[in-house]
This record gives sequence, structure tokens and C-alpha cells, in this order.
Amino acid sequence: RDPATLSADLLSWYDRHARAMPWRVPPAARQAGTRPDPYRVWLSEVMLQQTTVAAVRDYFHRFTARWPEVTDLAAAADADVMAEWAGLGYYARARNLLKCARAVVAEHDGRFPADHAALLALPGVGPYTAAAVAAIAFDLPETVVDGNVERVITRLHDVHTPLPQAKLEITALARTLTPQARPGDYAQAIMDLGATICTPRNPACGLCPWRDDCAGRLAGSATDLPKKTPK
Ligand code: ADE
Repeated sequence: RDPATLSADLLSWYDRHARAMPWRVPPAARQAGTRPDPYRVWLSEVMLQQTTVAAVRDYFHRFTARWPEVTDLAAAADADVMAEWAGLGYYARARNLLKCARAVVAEHDGRFPADHAALLALPGVGPYTAAAVAAIAFDLPETVVDGNVERVITRLHDVHTPLPQAKLEITALARTLTPQARPGDYAQAIMDLGATICTPRNPACGLCPWRDDCAGRLAGSATDLPKKTPK
């Protein structure tokens, strides 16, 4: 089936099965047009790099209770932020977090820019985070590719090229599926699909909205994908 049908089916699945997360807008408010707060989207995406949703939850609540706006975080003492980050690991992320908050205040009047290139220019913001904030917070049609998306896409298209070589190929395929309408929900939908249905082991293909389109499932290779170059 065509990309527009596939993305519409995934959005319809997401409307029924989206995971509740503290930084997400609940479905009713979302349908009424409420957008998520860019600061909360950015903070959650930085915390979620190398860390599970379950582990991030409490940290996210403590950070946003203590520093409700990016301007509050920018004004925080370095040691306080590092102490609040303790346990999340990868401490360079915490140092970049502060640098980024301060750059948003110094260069953008305390508001995250609604622009992929401007987001990418912020300290500690790489292609993944820039695309995630652009899509989720501002509903811009950017394509988010994380480990979940790599798995979903390699299976859907039966891509046997190993990672990390397959990255560009995966990104190009993922782009063709990103819809112009609701790209932010779509980005979160494909990540949720990878986290809950299209799992590394024992994927629940019977529950997948793309089960009849999945070349990997039809070829019997889905559970062997993505392939990885041996280290
Ligand atoms: N993993 C990282 N960011 C995510 C998000 N916004 N939704 C679902 N899974 C994620």
C-alpha cells in the first residue's frame, strides 16, 4: 500500500494505543489543538537518550517541578543541575543541557526556535533531538530516526544491509512515510510501535497495523532485523 495509507493507519493505531507519558498531551486535549511544551519535549528527549522511559519519568518530574521553564533551568547553578541529574548517567548530557538552556535564553529570547536548522545549532542538539523537537513540539514534517525506528523500517522494507551502514537508506525510507499532517504524532507513533509491538525479540506482529505490509514478516526475516556489523 502507499505511504499515505500506511501513515494514516499508524496514526489511527496511535490514537488508540499511545503510551501516556508526562511530557505528552493527552488525546482529548491534543484533538482540541493543545501543543506540547517545547521545553518539556526537549528535556524528555535529552533524558531518553540511552535511558528508558521508566527510568526517566521521576527525573523528568523533579526537573520540571524545580525548573518549570527553560529560563529557570538556564539560571540554575551548574552543581544543582548535576546533582539532580545524578543517576541518569552520561554526564556530558547534563552539561550540554545547561549550555543549551542558556543559549535558548541568550540567543532566542527564552523560546525554543520552531526551525530544524536553528535547533540543530543549539549546544548538545544533534540530528535526532532537532528532528524530535521540530516534529513533536512544532508539528514540522521532520523525520525522527532512533533505534526503534531503525528496527521498524528495516523490517517493513526487509532491509538486510547491516547497521550502521544502513543508516542513510533507513532515513530515506523513513522520510517517505512521514506525513505532512500530524508529523509530531506520527514521530511518536512509530517510536511507540517499535517499543511495544515491533520489539527486538518476539514482536507482536498480529497486533501491528502494518502486519500485511511488512516485507520482513512476509519473508520470515523480521526477527533477524536489523542486521548489525559485528564489532
Ligand atoms: N523514545 C524517545 N522519545 C520518544 C517519544 N517521544 N515517544 C516514544 N518513545 C520515545
